[in-house]
Amino acid sequence: MRFFSKINTNTKVYGVIGDPIKHSKSPTMLNRAFQEMNINAIYGAFHVEVGMLKEAIEGFKAFKLGGLSVTIPHKVEVMSYLDEIDESAKVIGAVNTVVNDQGKLKGYNTDGIGYVRSLKEETQLDLKGKRILILGAGGAARGVAYALAGENPDHIWIANRTVERALELAESMQLFVKSTGMAISDIAKINQEVDLVINTTSVGMHPQIEYSPIPSLFINENMVFSDLIYNPRKTKLLSLAEEKGCQIHSGLGMFIYQGAYAFEYWTGKPAPIEAMKQAVDYYSK
Ligand code: ATR
Repeated sequence: MRFFSKINTNTKVYGVIGDPIKHSKSPTMLNRAFQEMNINAIYGAFHVEVGMLKEAIEGFKAFKLGGLSVTIPHKVEVMSYLDEIDESAKVIGAVNTVVNDQGKLKGYNTDGIGYVRSLKEETQLDLKGKRILILGAGGAARGVAYALAGENPDHIWIANRTVERALELAESMQLFVKSTGMAISDIAKINQEVDLVINTTSVGMHPQIEYSPIPSLFINENMVFSDLIYNPRKTKLLSLAEEKGCQIHSGLGMFIYQGAYAFEYWTGKPAPIEAMKQAVDYYSK
């Protein structure tokens, strides 16, 4: 109640745009962060459908909102409507954070750095020299793949249902790391060589929680399994991997850190990570 009583004409407005958006935990997490840091701002969720993104961004500019988080399916298209794009977001080819800098909209990507920070912190893995298999080749895969390339792994395989997207992403990464694209149906050819498997596809996401992007057959105990999905906290893929004795890593940590980096771009202040973790029940299993 105290929080809402502070809203006035100076309150800055932030929000997340996506489709679907109802499931998002971003408002809970970022309102808690603003509150914790005593910043006069609020954060909402905006349901922006495909075909309405340009109008949404124009409205955002007209209303002089403070900043935006961008989620599925707008992370690539939004780049066309911004004034400036950060170098690494350009290389990644996707934007998940927009800053309104006195009327100029600038796009960043905090997914990849958020992911790698969470992975390293929670698994204690040293990624140098590791052989990594990424499932999926969409916007999320791109952010994660480029951030991982900076950790000097030995090889990154990209496996996707649509093989052309996997080949294209692998090709674009050659400058940074040894990388190979393939069809997801072909992973049997390489799965003995892999140390870490990362799911970036939407397979297993609520409400389709009974699906896994790969069958249990391809899981062996010396691999680490990581899933970008945070709803459910433990996906079917992670449950199958855990049953086989693998170390597992869920997407909630990445979600928190991508939001924390966005908060820092918007406010110039360090994000209150602990409060943000509590807001999304990070510590409950
Ligand atoms: P995001 O920005 O979140 O990565 P995206 O660009 O739409 O979203 O990518 C979704 C990823 O999930 C893609 O790799 C997609 O595979 P395709 O490129 O073949 O479409 C993958 N994906 C979605 N549904 C899938 C399914 N049922 N089986 C396998 N892969 C799926």
